[in-house]
Amino acid sequence: MLQVTLASAETGNSYSNPADLSPLEAQGRALYLEGKLPNGETLTAIGAGNTRLTGIQASCVNCHRRSGLGGVEGNEVILPITGRALFGGGNPVIVQIDKQFNQRLSNQSEFYNDQSFAKALRLGQHISGRSLNPLMPLYAVSDSQLQALTAYLSTLSNAWSPGVTDNDIHLATVITPEVKPERRQIFLKTLNELVDQHNVNVVSGLRQRIPPIERKMHNRRHWKMDIWELKGSSSTWNEQLEKWHQQSPVFAILSGLSEGDWQPVQQFCEASKVPCWLPSIDIVPNDANKETYSLYFSEGMQIEAKVIANQILLSKPQPKKIVQWVGHEASAQNAGVALRQLLNSKDIEIQSLSSEESTVSISETLKSLEAEDVLVCWLNTDELKALTSTTSTPLGRIYLSSTLAGENIPNWTKDWAQQTWLIQRTELPKMRAANLSRFNEWLSHWQLPLIDEKMQSDVYFSVNSFSWVVSSLLNNFHTDYLIDQAEASLSMREAMQVQEEVQSMMMGGGGRRPQAIKSTSQTPSTQVDTNSSVDIGLLSKRESISAYPRISFGVGQRFGSKGAYVRQFLPQINNFDETKAQWIIP
Ligand code: HEC
Repeated sequence: MLQVTLASAETGNSYSNPADLSPLEAQGRALYLEGKLPNGETLTAIGAGNTRLTGIQASCVNCHRRSGLGGVEGNEVILPITGRALFGGGNPVIVQIDKQFNQRLSNQSEFYNDQSFAKALRLGQHISGRSLNPLMPLYAVSDSQLQALTAYLSTLSNAWSPGVTDNDIHLATVITPEVKPERRQIFLKTLNELVDQHNVNVVSGLRQRIPPIERKMHNRRHWKMDIWELKGSSSTWNEQLEKWHQQSPVFAILSGLSEGDWQPVQQFCEASKVPCWLPSIDIVPNDANKETYSLYFSEGMQIEAKVIANQILLSKPQPKKIVQWVGHEASAQNAGVALRQLLNSKDIEIQSLSSEESTVSISETLKSLEAEDVLVCWLNTDELKALTSTTSTPLGRIYLSSTLAGENIPNWTKDWAQQTWLIQRTELPKMRAANLSRFNEWLSHWQLPLIDEKMQSDVYFSVNSFSWVVSSLLNNFHTDYLIDQAEASLSMREAMQVQEEVQSMMMGGGGRRPQAIKSTSQTPSTQVDTNSSVDIGLLSKRESISAYPRISFGVGQRFGSKGAYVRQFLPQINNFDETKAQWIIP
């Protein structure tokens, strides 16, 4: 019988930072993370099918993950190899090792010592004497290398990350100062409602579906949510974040809202190993894909610039000139810079205009465009209206961003529209209504107004996905493991959720309803009747429950959704085409 001990705060070595490691542990770290030997040479190994693996391919992190707690990859189970898991001492390490989420658990009954550990690595022999799965490579490691590995493994996922106690998980959300008050308000309202519901369910046990093992391991915790509202210039944000985190450490930054710079927040998360979980932002820092602890819905405005650059470079004949008209919003400016950088190296003339320019010079510039040239409008609806009413239609193709201009452009002059393509990161309207049907139901059930569908559904997905992934940690509350599990299982969980929602909606509309109805005197305000607007046939074709086509994080991926749609304007429907829209992953 599997022994399950109740979780209790795990203490041990403090949460290991590279700078705090001993020389031996640091050698082990280089082997584990980079496949580098102490003498500077690369680690080599014999992998499955007698393939030779070197360096990164041979590094343990490749399979056992950053946390050392392993996971499930396809049909292969990769066992945890942290010091406690292999060599014992302290609470047993128990992880889920089942891709179906039916709670198959790892179970160590015997522990390794130096000799048996050496046999596992050199000969592929399990402690029981059986052969290990041939996926586990064979390593001709020396005794001192084994020592270094042992030392490093003992630091891995040893103590819980800050912000977790026996009863609570402490979280924060971040709001940057330029966010407009109405958006800030509805963001907090939506977030607080979700957190309250989580807490009501945890405390009263209302959530029926807590699997027995999670209940036994006492893994559902009350969430304590701080609101970190940044003030002043972005150069002071890191200091503010560090101060809050020092005063009252958090396990993760959950969701978040910004209409401008997010770089300092990402930097803080990396330096403090605090996961930054799916904030609702359009300007994603440039180096986001190289970081570890930040997960984003998409690459933001930069993916739009990439898709436009991709369309431009593929078009025949190639345009000689690109004019981009960059509006005043920060996200417009971000996109403008990105597009310029992408095309700079490509030998295509690109000219950027801003609202500082006089109407005359704009008209002149637009007149200079030829039929094969391109105008990119990083403009919101008002700016677009002003442009189209004062300037005559240029030749060439026109691109618009739905983030800035929306999907239904008012006062759209017909001749401009004819040549226009819309770039859109979110799912197309009909399918999006299906994706978000449960979200909309949730909103109206709790009498929350629908003010900003994209942002509010971002918050909804962020909180729900965080909750799924935290529950898969069992009682291994390590931020590295949270990220490992997001990479391994978030898309699977989303697919399961889609299935579940479709089933319950097909079987009678509402399906699983929130069970506690708050008494509220508030009368329904902006209620949306979602059921009537959702095509039941589309429900079964969904792959997503967010505003994005599908969210998945492979190992090392930091953008859940990887592309954007290109939609052509169709005069017949006086709107952008939905049926032939192309999803482009540049
Ligand atoms: C290509 C993937 C891969 C790499 C790289 C890899 N492992 Fe493994 N490892 C596995 C798999 C899969 C298992 C589970 C084997 C089984 O269950 O039979 C495993 C099992 C183990 C075990 C036995 C665990 C137990 O509970 O019995 C140890 C110890 C181990 N690995 C150590 C390492 C170390 C140390 C490194 C780096 C030097 C490493 N592995 C690199 C895939 C890998």
